[in-house]
Amino acid sequence: MDQGLLDVLQNAKHVLVFTGAGVSAESGIPTFRDALVGLWARFDPAALATREAFRRDPTFVWGWYEWRRMQVYNTQPNLAHQAIAELSAIVPKLTLVTQNVDDLHERAGSTEVIHLHGSLNKPRCFACARFATDPLPPPDDPTEGRHLEPPRCSHCGGKLRPGVVWFGENLPAQALAQSFAAAKDCDVLLSVGTSGVVEPAAQIPDIAWRAGATVVHINPDAKCVRTPREFWLDGRASEVLPLLVQGFRSSR
Ligand code: OAD
Repeated sequence: MDQGLLDVLQNAKHVLVFTGAGVSAESGIPTFRDALVGLWARFDPAALATREAFRRDPTFVWGWYEWRRMQVYNTQPNLAHQAIAELSAIVPKLTLVTQNVDDLHERAGSTEVIHLHGSLNKPRCFACARFATDPLPPPDDPTEGRHLEPPRCSHCGGKLRPGVVWFGENLPAQALAQSFAAAKDCDVLLSVGTSGVVEPAAQIPDIAWRAGATVVHINPDAKCVRTPREFWLDGRASEVLPLLVQGFRSSR
């Protein structure tokens, strides 16, 4: 690893870890934009991830998200999730911001995870927007493409919708504000497994870099980096992150 980078890691006081679908890829959760296997290569987001899609065909949309919830339910966090949880015990301050709607960071032991794009496990009402009070039961083996009737809101009787941010919707305001504030405050930002194309989340590494942080991308896909203070570590999250955490640990 680059000595300059190791020196920066050694002195990091506030590390912001910003994750995308790639961090869960090795748990068997498909990414969105990878060719062939990415969800948006196989499914039309306009038919699944918009309010219009849910209004048109709620059983198709609910069934698809239940299929995705089942994939998460049936898998485990991987070494990348675990390395991030370990890192929080090593550095003085760590903020974890994820674009992922799974709970694999939490299940690996990370606490206070900022979910910018919501959560598969926290549905809310399509009509009155309240979050469901009762937890969802374990997913009932929905096969891909199966139509499922959404549960009803206990408050108003409206249909529950997946608790994720859809195209054309605003991100949760508090989560976004916390993420931008952490980006301005951190001295190291690790951007793990994200294509970095979805706004406004995509601004987070740039905000950190402009504020003087060192930005490290961990991704098997080539990333353009600027000088100074921006690095690309080529590889899978589950391989690179444990090494990086070792670097943090051994330098303290
Ligand atoms: P993408 O599918 O756009 O990007 C996944 C990234 O992970 C790519 O850059 C891959 O090269 C990288 N990758 C794949 N396998 C990896 C591995 N084992 N280790 C490290 N990196 C790996 O997913 P996101 O950037 O998360 O939004 O997508 C952003 C948002 O777009 C998602 O949150 C979702 C989607 O529409 C909503 O649901 C609102």
